[in-house]
Amino acid sequence: MTIKISGTGSALPEKILTNKDLEQMVETSDAWISERTGIKERHIAEEDSVASLSAEACRRALSDAGKTAEEVDLILLATCSPEMLLPCSACQVQSAIGAKNAVAFDINAACSGFLFALQTAHAYIVSGMYRNALIIGAEVLSKIVDWEDRGTCVLFGDGAGAVFVEASEDDHTGIQSMTAGSDGSRGGVLYCRERAVDYKDAFENEGIHICMNGGEVYKFAVRQVPDCIEKALTKIDLTPGDIDLFVLHQANLRIIEAIAKRLHVGMEHFPYNVDRVGNTSSAAIPLLLDELNKSGKIQKGQLLVLSGFGAGLTYGACVVRW
Ligand code: UT7
Repeated sequence: MTIKISGTGSALPEKILTNKDLEQMVETSDAWISERTGIKERHIAEEDSVASLSAEACRRALSDAGKTAEEVDLILLATCSPEMLLPCSACQVQSAIGAKNAVAFDINAACSGFLFALQTAHAYIVSGMYRNALIIGAEVLSKIVDWEDRGTCVLFGDGAGAVFVEASEDDHTGIQSMTAGSDGSRGGVLYCRERAVDYKDAFENEGIHICMNGGEVYKFAVRQVPDCIEKALTKIDLTPGDIDLFVLHQANLRIIEAIAKRLHVGMEHFPYNVDRVGNTSSAAIPLLLDELNKSGKIQKGQLLVLSGFGAGLTYGACVVRW
């Protein structure tokens, strides 16, 4: 038995912050950001929260799947930037959409969070404990970014993506293989100790916003992601050449190009939206998946690899037949 994705949805805040806007805020340039990352613009939440963006993404995923909120058994929300410690964002979403029969909780594995949540839902549904789940990746990273640090503030964006998953009657449709891993000994290369209560405090305390050794994360990603993709594919006797679309974590276009090169697969199999949304951490994969699904770029029967990496350090991959 396995699970399949029956619906997708997403939500982005209205406000767009371009590289040109950033030139007015820190010592940077559109040329530097574009060449080093591929990012042109990102969405920034003003009124929106992780919970409100997630609720909208879930409504759209449910509508795409033809399901009602009351039919949902489980809500798993992956985030590392919730507005509140308690209650968890998943419970706020449950209340907002009226999924009164669901069990709801959050998962934090940073940028790998959506993948880990998908794998958790797979385990729950295959065990028979629940029949279906809403899996969400959502971030409002703009509230934990240091807007005076040009090394990080140009990278991140806000948004939410969601999928509705359910037991698949046909083992050949849905998740075919999974891998995941963590290396806590390297947690110091990307961290945020706490978030500012009054955001102005963020500039006075090191560690109260996102701190990153970008070079180390870059090296980790270009080695670890192809590795875990190869492992997930080998488990089911496939090779990278068999895959139609690689839906990767959208951190940096150069990282995606380096991964494509290592896998010996052309960039036409690596769709991206990092140019328009920046790095949205756990929201990146479901945001892109929704964009591809709604624009008809994924055909039934196609093979997809979903794969990501992030703080922790964490990484994972899923092979999915659509
Ligand atoms: O979701 C996972 C989270 N993180 C990531 O995936 C990040 C992975 N890492 C990266 O994407 C890249 O390492 C970065 C985009 C963060 C940085 O690119 P890089 O090519 O590794 O640049 P660098 O850090 O080596 O910096 C090169 C230069 C430095 O100046 P000097 O020392 O050569 O004079 C930086 O100070 O670029 C400077 N720099 C900037 N210049 C203009 C750093 N940020 C900026 C900026 N604008 N925004």
